[in-house]
Amino acid sequence: MSLLALEDVRVTFGHRVALDGVSLAVEVGERLVLLGPSGCGKTTVLRLLAGLAVPDRGRVLIGGRLAAAEGRLLVEPEQRGLGMVFQDLALWPHLSVAGNLELGLRARGTPRTDRRRRVRAMLELVELGELAGARPGELSGGQQQRVALARALVLEPEALLLDEPLSSLDLELARRLRTEILRLQERLGFTLVHVTHDPEEADQMATRTLRMDRGRLAG
Ligand SMILES: Nc1ncnc2c1ncn2[C@@H]1O[C@H](COP(=O)(O)OP(=O)(O)O)[C@@H](O)[C@H]1O
Ligand SMILES: [Mg+2]
Repeated sequence: MSLLALEDVRVTFGHRVALDGVSLAVEVGERLVLLGPSGCGKTTVLRLLAGLAVPDRGRVLIGGRLAAAEGRLLVEPEQRGLGMVFQDLALWPHLSVAGNLELGLRARGTPRTDRRRRVRAMLELVELGELAGARPGELSGGQQQRVALARALVLEPEALLLDEPLSSLDLELARRLRTEILRLQERLGFTLVHVTHDPEEADQMATRTLRMDRGRLAG
């Protein structure tokens, strides 16, 4: 059984067809990269998997369970066991680094001492222990990136969905962070779905690459 699957999905926005006839399956532990130019539908695929969008046609399965079908959302985003990092990171500017990580655990009802312990351990893992009390605005781009990753990973997701999170960074820093993501994946064992328009990034990250073009998988 695949961890995540899309079956013949179609997504439209008004007259615009964002995805058409897309089927894919993500296996446990793999690092799948979706590679394609801007506008080809990569973000829409991740939003379907995360439960932030619903297909007009076709089905979404999470852990073998029907999660959305034919315009209906059947499993809420929080129930899917997935972490997602968007291109714009969406860190809370008024919260400290630790506060950003703690929020999801609190929403889940994790007791305070347990929250503190897990946040501290995760910040150590991404080498941000010293910056636990800083606000996102006081950090460099690369450090903010690591906070966003840590915030997703502290919830121990089955799979991590990365939507071009490195595209705003300079080349050298992006390369280093990719190595960091690979190290974390090896250490923590999550499944990775990574979206990019950059072939070099795909080469470095993927155990398998799928090409997309104009709303379809391009074989
Ligand atoms: N909320 C939206 N409203 C209207 N059109 C959208 C919306 N989201 C995406 N689209 C369109 O759907 C297509 C695929 O978008 P997207 O999945 O964001 O592509 P990518 O991530 O590969 O750049 C594009 O033509 C885009 O303009
Ligand atoms: Mg996109």
